[in-house]
Amino acid sequence: MLTGKTIILGVTGCIAAYKSAYLASALTKAGADVHVVMTKNATEFVGPHTFEALTGNRVSVDTFDRNYEHKTEHISLADAADLVIVAPATANSLAKFAHGIADDMLSTVVLACDCPKMAAPAMNTKMYLNEVTQDNIGILKNYGWEILDPASGRLACGTSGPGRMPEPEVLFEAVVHAAAHEKDMHGLKVLVTAGPTREALDPVRFITNHSSGTMGYAIAKAAAARGAKVTLVSGPVALTKPSYIDVVDVTSAKEMYDAVTSRAPYCDIVIKAAAVADYRPAVVADEKIKKAADGSDADTVLQLERTDDILAALGRERRDGQFLCGFSMETQNVLENSRRKLFKKNLDMIAANSIREEGAGFGAGTNHLTLITADEEIDLPKVDKEELAYLLLDEIMKRR
Ligand code: CTP
Repeated sequence: MLTGKTIILGVTGCIAAYKSAYLASALTKAGADVHVVMTKNATEFVGPHTFEALTGNRVSVDTFDRNYEHKTEHISLADAADLVIVAPATANSLAKFAHGIADDMLSTVVLACDCPKMAAPAMNTKMYLNEVTQDNIGILKNYGWEILDPASGRLACGTSGPGRMPEPEVLFEAVVHAAAHEKDMHGLKVLVTAGPTREALDPVRFITNHSSGTMGYAIAKAAAARGAKVTLVSGPVALTKPSYIDVVDVTSAKEMYDAVTSRAPYCDIVIKAAAVADYRPAVVADEKIKKAADGSDADTVLQLERTDDILAALGRERRDGQFLCGFSMETQNVLENSRRKLFKKNLDMIAANSIREEGAGFGAGTNHLTLITADEEIDLPKVDKEELAYLLLDEIMKRR
């Protein structure tokens, strides 16, 4: 994902510095050329050797290291960088970056970098909430820095509140989002739906399906990484919501209908990966439904009614130039059934997948999609859903 990218990872003096070792490792494994620049204080928490072993590159600490190359290192490093991430970023380092102070290797490199920059503040809650720190964060945001909100929780100083550095996986995702792909979808508004819907039967029970939301989330993240402005209408799932995507949480098919139809007119591309319930209980009981008192099975028949087809509504109302892509999950006659839906719902493309195929469909890490358009069938390889999301977007971008 990050092959060919040069990333500068700035590490400042905070106990969270040890977590940056995981980040350095993940970035390197993803193909990036990672150069770690540490403040002197950071070396009190983690040794430079740790980062050197993980990245294969020498760690810079001192601006005036006499044992290293003749070129002005801070400039050559800054010129090569595609992205800078400072994690953890202390209050002191944020203050320096905000005011152009360059008194050590990291602050000097950062000042010399004209690539995208991001920072993950990590400090005591009072230091973080102090208006001086908040003002400095505001200044950095105005300069175009992406500031990753700290998590809340127990801090090393014994207090609790915002100030914890987000987990390395969250930081890794933010880097991938910023640096992994050409921004060929910049300027496009994309609406993605993901996950199942839940149709209530009573306050305790509901009807749903096995969708985990993984495919839809991967598509939303990939579109955002390619520069699109993404809205993700999500049914109930157990996935982390990316901070850089506008996520609209819904529960029922009706809520999804309202959320999607009110937003779709403003979108260039709509991808409906959600597994929307086709039926809901005709009556939703106010109280928990109890077994019949006489022990009979009188209450075991469930009356259902159809939900509105969201995609069909979008197909009827579509505006010129809008690209509509549906998903179709089948157990048999996958291509024929899916092609029928393509025409019936007036779509540009339908991504067909089979629940019967191993390594495909709900819950699997991988998937196999056949993309069907009015005159083509494109069989994508069975790969993990993240990669597949990029391939799907490639095909959509070729055709819109
Ligand atoms: N879909 C929708 N609203 C519904 C049902 C489905 O928008 N009420 C969308 C899904 O998000 C998906 C596509 O329609 O993109 C196809 O869904 P699928 O359940 O496979 O097909 P259906 O049209 O519901 O047909 P059937 O259940 O008969 O297979």
